[in-house]
Amino acid sequence: MISYGRQNIDQQDIDAVVDILQGDFLTCGPHVAKFENKLKNLTNASYASACSNGTTALHLALCALNVGPGDTILVPAITFLASANAVRFTGADVVFVDVDPDTALITVQALEDAIKKKPNANFKALINVHFAGQCADLQAIYAFAQKYGLKIIEDGAHAIGTSYVDSKGKSHPIGSNTYSDLTTFSFHPVKTIAMGEGGAVTTEDPALYQRISDLRTHGMIRDQDRLKNESHGPWYYEMQELGFNYRVSDINCALGASQLEKLDYFKQDRLKTVDYYDGELSGLRNVKTMKRLGCAEPAWHLYVAFLDFDAIGKSRQQIVQELHNKGIGTQIHYMPLYQHPYYEDLYGKMTLPGAEAYYKACISLPLFVGLTEQDKKNVVTALKLYQ
Ligand SMILES: Cc1ncc(COP(=O)(O)O)c(C=O)c1O
Repeated sequence: MISYGRQNIDQQDIDAVVDILQGDFLTCGPHVAKFENKLKNLTNASYASACSNGTTALHLALCALNVGPGDTILVPAITFLASANAVRFTGADVVFVDVDPDTALITVQALEDAIKKKPNANFKALINVHFAGQCADLQAIYAFAQKYGLKIIEDGAHAIGTSYVDSKGKSHPIGSNTYSDLTTFSFHPVKTIAMGEGGAVTTEDPALYQRISDLRTHGMIRDQDRLKNESHGPWYYEMQELGFNYRVSDINCALGASQLEKLDYFKQDRLKTVDYYDGELSGLRNVKTMKRLGCAEPAWHLYVAFLDFDAIGKSRQQIVQELHNKGIGTQIHYMPLYQHPYYEDLYGKMTLPGAEAYYKACISLPLFVGLTEQDKKNVVTALKLYQ
C-alpha cells in the first residue's frame, strides 16, 4: 500500500538524532538555533523561531499581531483546520474566503467579496495559505491588504522551498516575507520536510520575533534590559504576559536541520513526479490537473487531480476504494472548513462556489520522495481506466 504522502529519512537523519540522544541537551539546547539559522538561510528571512508544530506557529503569529476578541481574520475556505482554528484560539472571528477552484488559492476578488459581505467586522489580518505548495500573486494580495490596512500571515505549511516570482521576474522564497508580515511552516512528516512534530515562524520585524520567542516559552523574560521589576539574582526571570509552552526539542530540530539540507533534492524529486503525473493525466477526458501559476516556483507538497465523478459514473468513495484495493492510498484535501459542525454552529450554514466546485472534484494522489517509477506508473494506469 502506498500512502498519499510520507517522510523520507536517510542515515544522515538517523545519525543526527542519535547524536542528540547521546549528547547533553534533549531540549532547550543549541540545535534549536542551528535549525533556525538553516531555515533563515533557506528562506532569506532575518528572523526565525522554531516551535512545536505548524498550528502553534500560526497561534504565535496571530498573538504577536495582538489578534484577539473583536477582531476578524480572513482565512481561505479550503485549507487544513489549523489555519482557522488558530484564529479561534485567540478569540477572534474567522471569515472564510472563497478560492479559485483550479488551484484552491484565494484571489483578490474573493478577498474583496469576503470583506464586502461583513461591513461591520473589524478586519485585522488575512491568512494566505500556499495550497499544495503553489502560491498566488503575493504582490496583488499585498496591495489588497495595504488598501484595507490588514496584516498578512502566510501559512506556508505546504510551501517550504517554494518561491514567489514577482512582476519583474525576481524570485522570493516563501518565508522571506517580502510581501507579508509573518510566515508559518509545518514540518509534520507528510510535509516536504519532516521533524516528527515541528513548526516555525519567520519575520523581518525584530519586535514580532521577540514577542514570538517570549510567548513560545510562557512569556518568560530573562534579559536584564527588559525586566520590569528588579532582578533578584542570576536565576531571576519574570513573566510579563501569559505565554505558552510551544517549544520544540533539540531532537526534532536536529532531524529538521538534517532534512533541510536535502530540501532542494526533495523539491526537484517531487517536481519530477508532478511533471510525470501532469504529462500522463492531462489528456484524459474525465481527469483535470491543477492549474499552474506563472508567479510560483512550487516545491509541491500535494498532487491534487480533479475527477469528473458524474461523467465517470462512480462516486468519489467508490473510486477511493477501488484505488485502495490496488494499493494506492489517496486523501481529500480538504472539505470546505465552513462545513465542519463547529464552524457551522458558530457561523451558520454557508456555501462558496469556488470552494464547493474544488471540493466536488479533488483527490490527492501519492506524492513523496521514495515513490518508485513502478508506483507512479501504477497510479497513472489506475486513473487511465476512468477516462
Ligand atoms: C495549511 C496548513 N496549515 C497548518 C497546518 C498545521 O500544521 P501542524 O500539523 O504541524 O500543526 C497544516 C497541517 O496539516 C496545514 O496543512
